[in-house]
Amino acid sequence: MSQFRTEIHFGDCINVLQKFPNEHFNLIVTSPPYADARKKHYDGIEPDKYAQFFLKFHAEFWRVLKKDGSFVLNIKDKVINGVRHRYVWETINALSNNGWRCVDDYLWIKPNAMPGYWSTRLRDEWEYCFHLTKNQKFAMYQDAVRRPMGEWAEKRLNGLNGKSAERHNSENDSGFGRDLRNWVGKETVLPGNTINIGLVGKNMGHPAVFPTGLPEFFIKLFTKEGDYILDPFAGSGSTGIAAERLNRNVVLIEKKNSYVSVIKDRLCKLRAISRVRYFYSDLTENVTEWTPSETLFDSEEDIINSPSNQLQSKKTPRVVLKK
Ligand SMILES: C[S@@+](CC[C@H](N)C(=O)[O-])C[C@H]1O[C@@H](n2cnc3c(N)ncnc32)[C@H](O)[C@@H]1O
Repeated sequence: MSQFRTEIHFGDCINVLQKFPNEHFNLIVTSPPYADARKKHYDGIEPDKYAQFFLKFHAEFWRVLKKDGSFVLNIKDKVINGVRHRYVWETINALSNNGWRCVDDYLWIKPNAMPGYWSTRLRDEWEYCFHLTKNQKFAMYQDAVRRPMGEWAEKRLNGLNGKSAERHNSENDSGFGRDLRNWVGKETVLPGNTINIGLVGKNMGHPAVFPTGLPEFFIKLFTKEGDYILDPFAGSGSTGIAAERLNRNVVLIEKKNSYVSVIKDRLCKLRAISRVRYFYSDLTENVTEWTPSETLFDSEEDIINSPSNQLQSKKTPRVVLKK
């Protein structure tokens, strides 16, 4: 059976990444601390200074990413004095000015976003996931994220006749057109660039956990089995869980020690242990093999009540919503 490698590093990602060679990772997928958010838990960066703050990391990210690799940045803007502060756009512009190609904006739609009433806007139910690359050519495996065609196909494509059995060219002579006959017999279709996944409702011992389905989507889309994934702001290790499930090697870096314990707890629970060799490094900078305990957690309840979670839950509410 193939073995995959999971590395957990306790430390600042700028320092930790210096241990890695150039062009090592196929994909960086991460959610950094947002501006002015979670100040009690970790850095609160002023929105006006955010782009400058983020540029501190970009050179190392660029160096360790392969030529055909991708960088997916999950981030959200913020309302200040009644208007959206555009620090997210400023950050993407700053990255573009430093050579990154912003290929597309994916949107993470949260169908279970917190309900409520805001007098000037509606419920906020999505976040950006920017897709950045170093080069025009990059690895992309679209077939890995195909979805079933669904009921629509059965209803619409059964017994095509008359006008529906002809090609329709675009009215504005663009050369584009559609021919429904091309879809007959197809079972899958490519998804759009929105990802519909609910917020994590359980207390994972971290205040800003994203659902594992989010990194999972991008890992499938931009990497293949055995590739190398990096989450430099690992938090509770959701990217690690997604990477292990999909048989990828992964490096998780987290600068707060209590969250490193949460990562270890969550990975133990996944029990991918037979397929994965685990490594750990702390501030002494030695990377050593770490043997997770297979029997540490038996049920979802166990992880919710794990020691590291209790440590967190003294300060945070038990039901934790993303950012
Ligand atoms: C938004 S959270 C990530 C949450 C993660 N996606 C999850 O699902 O749990 C950002 C994390 O980055 C960590 N962090 C902030 N600055 C860092 C740095 N320079 N190096 C490593 N980790 C850092 C914070 O402690 C926090 O846990």
